[in-house]
Amino acid sequence: MAFHDDLALDEQLDALDPLRHLMHQPESDDTERDLDAPSSSVLSVLPKQSRSIQNETLHLSFAHPHAHDPNEPPPIAIKLAVDASPGCGGIAWPAGEILSSYLVKRGPTYVQGRTIIELGSGTGLVGLVAGTLAGRAKDERAKVWITDQAPLLDIMRQNVRANALEANVAVAELNWGSLIPPEIPAPDLILAADCVYFEPAFPLLVQTLRDLVDRNAESETEVLFCYKKRRKADKRFFGMLKKSFSWTEVMDDPDRETSNREAITLLRLIRRRPLAGSRRDDHEEEARRRI
Ligand SMILES: C[S@@+](CC[C@H](N)C(=O)[O-])C[C@H]1O[C@@H](n2cnc3c(N)ncnc32)[C@H](O)[C@@H]1O
Repeated sequence: MAFHDDLALDEQLDALDPLRHLMHQPESDDTERDLDAPSSSVLSVLPKQSRSIQNETLHLSFAHPHAHDPNEPPPIAIKLAVDASPGCGGIAWPAGEILSSYLVKRGPTYVQGRTIIELGSGTGLVGLVAGTLAGRAKDERAKVWITDQAPLLDIMRQNVRANALEANVAVAELNWGSLIPPEIPAPDLILAADCVYFEPAFPLLVQTLRDLVDRNAESETEVLFCYKKRRKADKRFFGMLKKSFSWTEVMDDPDRETSNREAITLLRLIRRRPLAGSRRDDHEEEARRRI
C-alpha cells in the first residue's frame, strides 16, 4: 500500500479508537529496529500492565550510575499508584521510565534551582523523580509542576502524597493548546514522555511547547522529549514540530542503545529563532533519520 494510503487508513482507525497504538507494537517497516529483542533491564523494571489495571501500586526503583559504590546515595524509589480508569495516562509508559532513568543518571545537580514542567504527566512518574532529585539536592527553589488533563489530577495528587513530595512537586491542569494557567511559571526545563499518539492533539502539543518556551524570555528553556515510535503517522507530529523546533538526540544517556532497540528516542528540542543561526549538528541529523 502506498505510504499516503497507510496514513489515511491510520487516520480512519484512529477516529474509531484513538488509543489503539498505545498497546500495540509498531508496524514493521524497513526503518524499524529489532523489536523482538528481549526487554531491556531498564524496561523490565515495570511489570506488564494492561488497560484492566485498577487502583494498583507499583514500586519502581531508579539507580544512579555508580550504584555499586557504597558511598553513593541509594536508588530513587517511587511508589506509583496506577489506575487505567481515568485514561491511558493512568498507567506508566516506557518512555516515561526512560526519561526518569536519565534524570536520575544526571543526578540532583541537574534539577538544582530549576523550574520544571512536565506535560502529559499521567501518573506523574517523571515529575516525581525530578522532585525526589530536588529533595536530595536540598533545594527549596527547585519546583516541579506535573500537569495533565482534569481526569488525571487525582491520581497525580495521590502519587505526590504517597512519595511525600508536596514541598517540591505541584499538580496543575494544563490542556495542550489552551492558555497556560497563570499559576504555572516560566520553565527552565520541560519534560514530556510518550505524548505523541493522538493525531488531533499534535498541533496542540506543539503550540503548548512553543508557548512555554517563549514564556521564558530570560534564558533558553531546555526541553527533554522522550518519544516512542509506534506508527508511521507520528511523522506528522514531527512535520508540525519542525516549524518551531529543531531537535537533537540526547547522546549522554547510558541507556541510549537499549532504548533505541525498544523504538524509544530521547530528544532535546531547540526552539527555532529567526536570528539564532543554524544549530544543526551530526546528532540532529541522526535524530531526524531515526524518526
Ligand atoms: C501515553 S500517556 C503518557 C503518560 C506519562 N507521560 C508516562 O510516560 O507514563 C499520554 C498522556 O498525555 C496526556 N494528554 C493527552 N492529550 C492531552 C492534552 N490535549 N492536554 C494535556 N494532556 C494530554 C494524557 O492524558 C496522558 O496522560
